[in-house]
Amino acid sequence: MFSHRLTSKLEKNRLTLLLEQKKQRGTAILDLTGSNPTQANLAYPEDILSSLTDCRSMLYHPSAKGLMEARTAVARYYCERGQGEIDPEDIVLTASTSEAYAFLFKLLADPHQNILAPQPSYPLLDFLAAGEAIDVVRYPLIYHDRWQLHITEITDHITSQTRALVAVTPNNPTGSFLKVSEWNSLKETCSRHKLPLICDEVFFDYPLDETISRFDPIAEQDVLTFVLSGLSKVVGLPQMKMGWIVIRGPKEQRRLARERLEIISDTFLSVNTPVQHASPKLLQIRVSIQEQIRLRIQRNLTLLEDLFSASSLESLPVEGGWYVVVRVPDTRSEEAWALHLLADYNTSVHPGYFYDFYQEPFLVLSLLTPEKLFKEGIGRLLEAAG
Ligand SMILES: Cc1ncc(COP(=O)(O)O)c(C=O)c1O
Repeated sequence: MFSHRLTSKLEKNRLTLLLEQKKQRGTAILDLTGSNPTQANLAYPEDILSSLTDCRSMLYHPSAKGLMEARTAVARYYCERGQGEIDPEDIVLTASTSEAYAFLFKLLADPHQNILAPQPSYPLLDFLAAGEAIDVVRYPLIYHDRWQLHITEITDHITSQTRALVAVTPNNPTGSFLKVSEWNSLKETCSRHKLPLICDEVFFDYPLDETISRFDPIAEQDVLTFVLSGLSKVVGLPQMKMGWIVIRGPKEQRRLARERLEIISDTFLSVNTPVQHASPKLLQIRVSIQEQIRLRIQRNLTLLEDLFSASSLESLPVEGGWYVVVRVPDTRSEEAWALHLLADYNTSVHPGYFYDFYQEPFLVLSLLTPEKLFKEGIGRLLEAAG
């Protein structure tokens, strides 16, 4: 009766089952994985809701790529980031960044073809690809003092069925930015194999190290490049459901991509009208939200480094984003660590294998956790590590 696309994703892991059991019993869980900004004790400006009551929202004016007003606001956001002028015609709105990926997979790949994506990285990519009946082939990010991309590992994985290359910068959960030198070799590979690049920049506004020479995909002129982001991380408002794709690269390829993306978006018209009218205002208030998030992340990281300094735990360097990777002693497997913390300390962490780390044991923690809870959770982690 049902397609097999998501069958392999139905099985629940032991950690999820234990968490469900504990919640059913009413046990209070200290969650060190939370990355929902609306549940992270941030102070949102009160006038957010009033921006959604624009009376123009009573009129339905379907527009495949999104209302011009909203696309202009997105273009302005890039301009304010110092990345120059973008023609709003090269912007396509989506309901989220996840939906942007799904649109691009429909645009670029036929069933059973594949896209290349980093490992470790964002687990939802596998679900999104499975939903479009395409495969994700992983290329490794290797950790030697910092996370690095090795271009031969990418070229070795490219086949005639490969349709695009995904880069996530800064990456979730490694927090590593794609450097200019890495981009130059990626670009050369994409040109040689005629592959477009999908560049997920949802955490762009949360750098921790301003000295890093990160590349700018918005300036890309030679390789067809799709830059993804959205209100979810830029303004900390995932519930508003607005993301976008910025199309960069050679003019004619941009036109061809635009034409096809327009048909895909027009089939769904999934971005609601009130958020599109509100988006100029919502993008303006990002400054105060981003400041709070950056401060939270900085404080939690400083605390972590202090508390770990005399312990057997080590936090890997974070260049940006909302997560930190912690190396724990290899006295147990990753899963055993996460189960131990949940079973005996009522503390929830993500084991590295959720993100397909090559080695173990690593745990992934959310730096968005409110400071007091974060401190308590790290205390429990240290106690568990003995
Ligand atoms: C790297 C990355 N890309 C995309 C997304 C999805 O964002 P959205 O909420 O816009 O679908 C996430 C969500 O956590 C993410 O971590």
